[in-house]
Amino acid sequence: MAYFLAVANRKGGVGKSTISVMLAHAFSTWGYKRVLLIDLDAQSNSSLILLGGSQWIETQRKSLNVAAFIEDRMYAMNPIADYIVGKAGDVTDAQGRVPTLSLLPGSLAFEDMQDELITHYSRHNTPFRQAKLKCANHFRQALAMAAPLADVVIMDCAPGLSNATAAALALAAKVVVPFRPDAVSEFAVDRISTIIEGKGYDDVMSIPPEKRRYICIANAVRSGGKDDTIIDTIAFNHPTLAARMPQSTDVANAFDWSDERQTMDEKYGGSVAALRAVYDELLTTLGAV
Ligand SMILES: Nc1ncnc2c1ncn2[C@@H]1O[C@H](COP(=O)(O)OP(=O)(O)OP(=O)(O)O)[C@@H](O)[C@H]1O
Ligand SMILES: [Mg+2]
Repeated sequence: MAYFLAVANRKGGVGKSTISVMLAHAFSTWGYKRVLLIDLDAQSNSSLILLGGSQWIETQRKSLNVAAFIEDRMYAMNPIADYIVGKAGDVTDAQGRVPTLSLLPGSLAFEDMQDELITHYSRHNTPFRQAKLKCANHFRQALAMAAPLADVVIMDCAPGLSNATAAALALAAKVVVPFRPDAVSEFAVDRISTIIEGKGYDDVMSIPPEKRRYICIANAVRSGGKDDTIIDTIAFNHPTLAARMPQSTDVANAFDWSDERQTMDEKYGGSVAALRAVYDELLTTLGAV
C-alpha cells in the first residue's frame, strides 16, 4: 500500500511543484519505487514538467486528469487507473531504464469542478458546512483509491487552501512543506503547521517535532545574507531538513521538457548533489517508505 506524501504551503511560488517533481524523480529512479504524482493544482505545473506541453494537451483532450476522475465519481465508481498516465517524466534510472513514475494530470477545470462538487452536495438545502464536509470526504475517498497502484503517492497541492488540499493534508502520512527563506515565510510555515495538525499554534508547539505530521524544506536558498538566520528561526520551531535546495538555474532549467530521456545527473546538473542530500535525509525522516 502506498505511502501518501502531500507537498503543501498556502504561500504561492515557494517550490511545491519543483519539490514534488524532484521527489517523484528521486523516489522512482534512485529508490526504485512505483511513484504516482497527483497534480492537485489547476495551474498543472507539475504535469507540464512531467509530460511536456504537447503530451499534457493530449491528456486533457482524452479527459485523463484529476478533475475528470473526481467529477466522474459523483455518478460512477470509475477506477482511478483509467485516468493515469504511465511513463511520465524524462529521466532514466542508473541502468538506463524508464522508472515506474506515473501521473494523474492536473486540469484547468479543477477549480470549476470543485465548485460543481459543492453545488452537488448542497442539494436539498444541505447546510454549507455539511456540504463542505461531504465534499472533503468525496476527495479523500477518491484520492485514497491510488493506494494499491504505487509505493509512494506524491500530491502536489495548489497554493491557498481548497477542499482538495484539505483532503490531501488529511490523507497524507507526512506533509512536506517547502518554503523560501524570505521575510514572510516564517508566518506562512506557522500557519500551515496549525492547519496540518488541526490545532492552535501553542498546541502544535507542544507536540515533539518528531511526532509532527509535517517536515519543512528550505528551497531556493541563497548563500550569505539573511537566509541562514530565517532558516534557523523556522527550524527552531518546526521540523526542518538540514539539507537545503539552493537557488540555482540548474533547478529552474531542470524543468524544460526533453524529448530524449536523461540521467538524473544530466537533468539536474550542479544541483543533483543537493537533491540527493534532501532525498536521503527525507527517507531517514519518513522511515516507513
Ligand atoms: N531551488 C530553486 N532554484 C531556482 N529556481 C527555483 C527553485 N525552486 C523553484 N524555482 C522556480 O521558482 C518558481 C516557482 O516554483 P514552483 O512552481 O515549484 O512553486 P510552487 O510553490 O509550486 O508555485 P505555486 O504556488 O504557483 O504552485 C518556478 O519558476 C521554479 O522554476
Ligand atoms: Mg505549484
